[in-house]
Amino acid sequence: MAKDNKMSVIDRHYLTLDKIIERYGDRPGGLIRVLAKAQELFGYLSREVQIHVAEKMCLPVGHINGVATFYSQFITSPRGKYTISVCLGTACYVKNGQNVYDRFSKLLGVEENQNTEDGMFTLRSTRCIGACSLAPLITVNEDVHGHLTLNDVARITGQYQEKEAEVEAADVGAEPVGPTGYQTQASPPN
Ligand code: FES
Repeated sequence: MAKDNKMSVIDRHYLTLDKIIERYGDRPGGLIRVLAKAQELFGYLSREVQIHVAEKMCLPVGHINGVATFYSQFITSPRGKYTISVCLGTACYVKNGQNVYDRFSKLLGVEENQNTEDGMFTLRSTRCIGACSLAPLITVNEDVHGHLTLNDVARITGQYQEKEAEVEAADVGAEPVGPTGYQTQASPPN
C-alpha cells in the first residue's frame, strides 16, 4: 500500500477487499466471492491483487491464479473501454453465434479476452444470458444487441467508435469525426 498520509483509492480498495476476505474467506465458495469483489473493485485480477488475496487467505498464488483463469467470469488483464461479449449459449450458437464471434475477432484483430491495441474493445464469449428470444446476441458493456447478422458487426463496432469520437470532440470543443472503419492504432496524442 502507498505510504501517503492520505489514503489512495487503491488503498481503500485493498481495505474493502480485506474486509470481504475476513467475512467470507473461510466460508464455502468464499474464494470465488472474494475474487468477484476484487474484480469489481480493481476492474480485473492483476498479479498484485492475486498475490494479496493469496497472502491474506494463506493460499498458494498458483491456486488463486488457477481459479482466476479457470472461470470465464474472471479476467486477469485490463479490459478495454467496451467489452463485447458474444453469447455462445445453445440458442445463440445455433443461430450463427460462432460466426458472429469470429467476425468480431477478425474485424478487431483480437482473440478471446484480448484488448484492441487502442484499449477500446475487449472481446469475449459468454454463456446464455437468458435472453434467447434475441438470439444471436451480444452485449457491449450493459447494452444488449440482438438478432444480429454478420453485417451488424462492423455497424455496431463503428457505433461505439463514433460515440467515443463524439466524446473526444466534446472534450476538445471540435467537430466529431465519424469513423469509417475499425483502426487498431491509437490516435496520436494532442
Ligand atoms: S443462448 Fe444466448 S441468450 Fe440464451
